[in-house]
Amino acid sequence: MQRENFGNRFGVLVAMAGSAIGLGNLWRFPYMVGEYGGAAFIFVYIICFFLLCLPILIAEVTVGRRSQTNAFRAFHRLAPGSRWNLVGILMVATPIIVVSYYSVIGGWSIEYFIKACSLDFSAGADTETGFGDMFNGFITSVWSPVIYHTVYLLVTAAVVAVGVKSGIERFGKIMMPLLFVIMIVIAVRSATLPGAGSGLEWLFKPDFSKIDASVCAAALGQGFFSLSVGFGIMLTYGSYISKKENIGISSFYTAVSDLVFALIASCAIMPAVFVFGLDPREGPGLVFETLPFIFSNMSLGGVISILFFLALIVAALTSSISLFEVGVAYLMEERRMSRKKSSVIIFAVTWLLGILCSLSFGPLSGLKLFGNTLFNFFDKFSANYLMPFGALLIVLFVGWRMKKDDVRDEFTNGGTLHGNSRIFGFAYFLIRYIAPLAIVVIFLSNLLW
Ligand code: ALA
Repeated sequence: MQRENFGNRFGVLVAMAGSAIGLGNLWRFPYMVGEYGGAAFIFVYIICFFLLCLPILIAEVTVGRRSQTNAFRAFHRLAPGSRWNLVGILMVATPIIVVSYYSVIGGWSIEYFIKACSLDFSAGADTETGFGDMFNGFITSVWSPVIYHTVYLLVTAAVVAVGVKSGIERFGKIMMPLLFVIMIVIAVRSATLPGAGSGLEWLFKPDFSKIDASVCAAALGQGFFSLSVGFGIMLTYGSYISKKENIGISSFYTAVSDLVFALIASCAIMPAVFVFGLDPREGPGLVFETLPFIFSNMSLGGVISILFFLALIVAALTSSISLFEVGVAYLMEERRMSRKKSSVIIFAVTWLLGILCSLSFGPLSGLKLFGNTLFNFFDKFSANYLMPFGALLIVLFVGWRMKKDDVRDEFTNGGTLHGNSRIFGFAYFLIRYIAPLAIVVIFLSNLLW
């Protein structure tokens, strides 16, 4: 079967950045910043991001492009006959787990977009608690969240079913610039609210005494989630990058846009939180409880809320498409199924798992896995364990199992990219020594203390 490729460098970038920029930036990053102390968290995050997450991204894309196959087969192809092929199972299973609960949040975003369009936020509750009740009432109900989860997942499956170039790449080319413009508009509106300065200061003036092992572990886990590394996505996308492209540059641009987006999202949210005297440590409810309250109380809030929830849907979709594609690529290449049939099967599996996650806020809330509801278990288990473990295995594979010359060959396009040749030694050092060591140390210290 002829493998599809992304069309050109811009196509590669929108697909990779589209995968990276998602709920991780707009929903997860702001509340993590809130929970872990503002600027101190951002400071650690930026260091982890460039010294660890970016080299891991390069390693993962290297495996994908070198192997020219899906996440399951890649390790087997590059290290035939070894135990490394077991890593492939992890790389395919993790995104399936993630997309199941991710699409539940995607569904919430659709509901909130509709609420914003029908001006529910101005007519609804006028206290923050009222918005909390509105949100809790919605997520604990049975039907609406399941219906929106279904709609969201259907759109995801439809784009993937169309194909890599005409589906995934084309969707990203339209949506990513739109997302960027919307978020800039919101950030400017928020940062120019009277009194926004204290929020900006909280975001950018670090208090270094707040940094401890839990902040580092949270920053690293957030970096993996946000950059889509450690769970087979970038490996799969890497396999669609043509041999002419520069994977170092594409990875770097992806990382920079992902980081810039996370910062823009924080600038859009946090100043407003401070202006209205609210608590930044609101947790996962920040976007769905605190923000609607803010929107309902600020001028132009109606338009801004519509734009914000539209941005949330768009960002989430380009990421869930990439999560979904991993399983589809596996079924197409390993089980010889058509793209459409593979999409239907992955839809069925993730739809059912997603329904269970959605119901775990309501009727199934008593069902606990290691003390967590199914939704929380999927979220925590994948971000805290599966992604770091996956990332560790990828850097160990590239740094210790693949031949150094093969890694260099892939990174420098056979020695023709002189800039990449110059930085290869440093990138390889980070992949071979620093990244594995840091993942183990941060992971263990967080577990033990
Ligand atoms: N990288 C994706 C996100 O940030 C999964 O949402």
